[in-house]
Amino acid sequence: MPTQNIYILGIESSCDDTSASVLCNGKILSNVVASQKIHEAYGGVVPELASRAHLQNIVPVVNEALKRANISSKGLNAIAFTQGPGLLGSLLVGTSFAKSLALGLQIPLIDVNHMQAHILAHYIDEEGFNKPPFPFLAMTISGGHTQIVLVTNYFEMEVIGETIDDAVGEAFDKSGKILGLNYPAGPEMDKRAQLGNPKAFKFTKPKVDGLNFSFSGLKTAILYFIQNNLKENPNFIEEHLNDICASIQHTIINILMDKLKIASKQTGIKHIAIGGGVSANSGIRSALKAAENKYGWTTYIPKFEYTTDNAAMIAIVGYLKYQEQIFATQNIAAKARLKI
Ligand code: KG4
Ligand code: ZN
Repeated sequence: MPTQNIYILGIESSCDDTSASVLCNGKILSNVVASQKIHEAYGGVVPELASRAHLQNIVPVVNEALKRANISSKGLNAIAFTQGPGLLGSLLVGTSFAKSLALGLQIPLIDVNHMQAHILAHYIDEEGFNKPPFPFLAMTISGGHTQIVLVTNYFEMEVIGETIDDAVGEAFDKSGKILGLNYPAGPEMDKRAQLGNPKAFKFTKPKVDGLNFSFSGLKTAILYFIQNNLKENPNFIEEHLNDICASIQHTIINILMDKLKIASKQTGIKHIAIGGGVSANSGIRSALKAAENKYGWTTYIPKFEYTTDNAAMIAIVGYLKYQEQIFATQNIAAKARLKI
């Protein structure tokens, strides 16, 4: 047990969620997320609007996180922030804010890789949630990424497979758009899928070698499938929406699970974790649970609130780096592209 309580403020602003979280040692005291509704009307995130909204949200969100944690900024030991990857304008807001606050408070600044954070969120102390032992495989599935990562230590990670085109979250969002669902379509697709028949319609899985993924062909196949059926029946979508959602979700989950099975076989690793927005999906969660018995895996599925973008995952990485005294300098810059 640590002799001293370490308080970290985490700040996340890589895409369209402004989030701040306070962590004490491994435990989350607060995790405030302001999601930007403004993008719904555009069917996707508009970068310019996202950075403006971050600017408006960041101070109230940080204040709220401190208030809920019952701590003043003077009690903080370090500030952790998302350096990248993400939208540059959005990242700049969180980065500048974190740098200024750390400078003002004269405390260490800690840079965090957003994709590493989706994986390391599993090290938050939460009752009923186990922490994966090293080495383990992590599949990061979000709106911007689809990767299989071999994790040998907190900061030793190797991407062993990734998408060659769209991310899996985009596959949900873009096919949802074709069906007339609001952005982001993943959550509604999931809800409807639970009411539909996953075998009602068949979509062919892409053939991609090794551990890489491809989702753009599936999106096109869905577009043609819908267009063709609408020619025969203009009410096709309304009449079959739940079945269409269930069938799309079923196909996506099969694609993800197929690659995970190969990765586990190739590496001999049976500790499997998921992270990122799509890990909120009920279908992938149950497919992983089922794989425990089927393949002898031990799976790590994040608590729902740590799946989509949040600052708690940034704060836990901050804490892990704080313990190793890995700090950033005031020269650090936000990076839209940042490798794991
Ligand atoms: O990790 P995240 O919040 O942001 C990125 O870093 O991209 O992931 C957002 C993605 C969106 O594509 C959204 O549709 C998807 O996660 N998502 C879901 C579900 N909840 C969020 N996809 C499928 N099922 C869900 N329940
Ligand atoms: Zn994310």
